[in-house]
Amino acid sequence: MSFCVEAKGIIHVKILGIDIGGSGIKGAIVDTELGELLSERHRIPTPTPSTPHAVAEAIVKLTKQLEWNGPVGCGFPSPIHNGVAVMASNISDKWIGVNVEMLFSQTLGMPVTVVNDADAAGLAEVKFGGGKGRKGLVMLLTIGTGIGSALIAEGKLVPNTELGHLILKGDIAEKYCSDSARKRDELSWKDWAKRFDRYLNHVNKLFYPDLFILGGGASKKFDKFDDYLTVDAPVVPAELLNLAGIIGAAIAAESRISG
Ligand code: BGC
Repeated sequence: MSFCVEAKGIIHVKILGIDIGGSGIKGAIVDTELGELLSERHRIPTPTPSTPHAVAEAIVKLTKQLEWNGPVGCGFPSPIHNGVAVMASNISDKWIGVNVEMLFSQTLGMPVTVVNDADAAGLAEVKFGGGKGRKGLVMLLTIGTGIGSALIAEGKLVPNTELGHLILKGDIAEKYCSDSARKRDELSWKDWAKRFDRYLNHVNKLFYPDLFILGGGASKKFDKFDDYLTVDAPVVPAELLNLAGIIGAAIAAESRISG
């Protein structure tokens, strides 16, 4: 299989992008030049418990479904230092200290690049989505099982910000206003939006970004809650919706490969 194809003088690189979330593992083959999917998006429920062995096996299953054998980029819900997961919030704490990059590369027998999942989504949104061409400070927040963050300053990612873990109402913010908190507390969109708005104002006062992009599962429901947001900064939904994590993971792998 060839991963680089030249068309009209442009090199197109094909990479399998995988987004590991608290509830689902999603993957698709991505054209990193265009930021487009070249295959169907496949989804496997995240195993419970989400131990390293179980998740690695789920990824093997995903690559088989997509008949893939080649470079892989993977977004993972933890800060990642040189391939190693350093914290576990919505995944099994057996991940702490595991070299995720090495584990997946060895299990798959393919080169795997691993980055934080929100960072991956941020990379995709500034390259192809709502942050494209934006100057200054862009902050992407993913709203899903947890809350992830990506901070991009003048087009350059500052990796591993963990702004879902700011303390709000006596606990980490994601326990209060993630999408799973909305479901857990059976909140209407309005009541959940009030919580999220409080969080957004808090983040705004710490960073004063030029733009907020909201990604993750809740980005598809942006019209249900944007009227309740009072923050004094532009807020847009992720244009790539919940594909941003898959596309961004592939972009991260492509930058690693091309140096
Ligand atoms: C994790 C982050 C992750 C976010 C979204 C948080 O619980 O700590 O690393 O980006 O969830 O998955």
